[in-house]
Amino acid sequence: MKVINVVGARPNFMKISPIIRAMEEIPGMGWLLVHTGQHYDVEMSEAFFQELVIPKPDINLEVGSGSHAHQTGQIMMAFEGVCLREKPDLVLVVGDVNSTIACSLVASKLRIPVAHVEAGLRSFDRRMPEEINRMVTDILSTYLFTTCEEANQNLLREGVAPEKIFLVGDVMIDTLYANLESIRKKDTWRRLGLKRKEYAVLTLHRPANVDDPKVFQEIISGLDEISTRLPIVFPIHPRTKRALSRFGYEGSFRFLDVEFPSAGGSNKNGVVRGPGIWCCDALGYLDFQNLVVHSKFVMTDSGGIQEETTVLGIPCLTLRDTTERPVTITLGTNLLLGHDKRRIIEEAMKILRGEGKGGQSPPLWDGRAAERIVGILAREFKISARSAARTRQ
Ligand code: UD1
Repeated sequence: MKVINVVGARPNFMKISPIIRAMEEIPGMGWLLVHTGQHYDVEMSEAFFQELVIPKPDINLEVGSGSHAHQTGQIMMAFEGVCLREKPDLVLVVGDVNSTIACSLVASKLRIPVAHVEAGLRSFDRRMPEEINRMVTDILSTYLFTTCEEANQNLLREGVAPEKIFLVGDVMIDTLYANLESIRKKDTWRRLGLKRKEYAVLTLHRPANVDDPKVFQEIISGLDEISTRLPIVFPIHPRTKRALSRFGYEGSFRFLDVEFPSAGGSNKNGVVRGPGIWCCDALGYLDFQNLVVHSKFVMTDSGGIQEETTVLGIPCLTLRDTTERPVTITLGTNLLLGHDKRRIIEEAMKILRGEGKGGQSPPLWDGRAAERIVGILAREFKISARSAARTRQ
């Protein structure tokens, strides 16, 4: 059996890492890793390969940035050549980025089965490009691996045949558990001059939040107020960095002059001195998770961080109107606040008063999702159990 595993953007890397490790346990399952090059900066891509010990991609399509149509089209054209040459039995895609939809479209038109990891999530908001990516990828997929029961229900409602859906848990959480010891051992929070549980972490990169000056302004003014009570550390995504300078906000933030070794740089001075919003460049996985683990709470518009904070038991304020991950609210520590300044401040203050929301991990978020996925694929493709069993000894 020959699988092409596809990655392209930052959140894909934590998802593919445990899958590749599980595939390596099964000698009959040959695989190639294709990086589309959607993300290409060291801190958005290479740093994750090093830290998560992901093998160097066999093929990099090097498509880079562009409009949605341009980026998706470039990936499709390049990936078609790869599929025609490599003739895989399966293309495995993860998440909901443009690389995910582009490669599943190519594979399905070449009649190559597609496996979608993290299938069935729905925000029910088609203004999010990711929602379109999720829906189209799911329609085209033969194997739909889901993280929670809600995702199964979404797929069944959309008419997906039940035998194509496999509830396996969350591969992003596999990566979190696999790295938890290294995450805890790091001293990123201390190096930044922070005090344990006396700071918040912020990430913002959704176009709906950072490309609209009015929305961005409202969020920032809420955060400004919160930051008078405790420092907020804000690792900045390149898209958001551009928005800051476009809207003339650079002066409102303090920039930490920190380069993290995991991002390929040297460790300079740069510590948080008192309240305020403290920005730094996008961080590697271990540094970022170390900041999260020791923080009082997290504010974010990311998808994956809602899941990670739920498992870590850290309160999460999600600065979006919708979430495709409702289980992090019903079971976990997540609250959905939109960009309403008053609500954001109110909920942050509750956490500071010790009235934050608790939570628990959803079923099957136990660090073994990738093992289940690969086990199911081995069974479906009738890969000899004998060879699989041999490597496990
Ligand atoms: C993409 C995903 C989003 C995911 C996010 C995580 C889509 C539609 N969106 O959004 O779901 O949450 O990744 O980061 O696929 N840029 C760089 N260096 C890089 C990559 C990007 O500077 O390595 C800049 C470029 O100016 C680019 C912009 O960031 O135009 C946006 O990158 P893009 O890949 O289009 O989308 P993201 O906002 O990163």
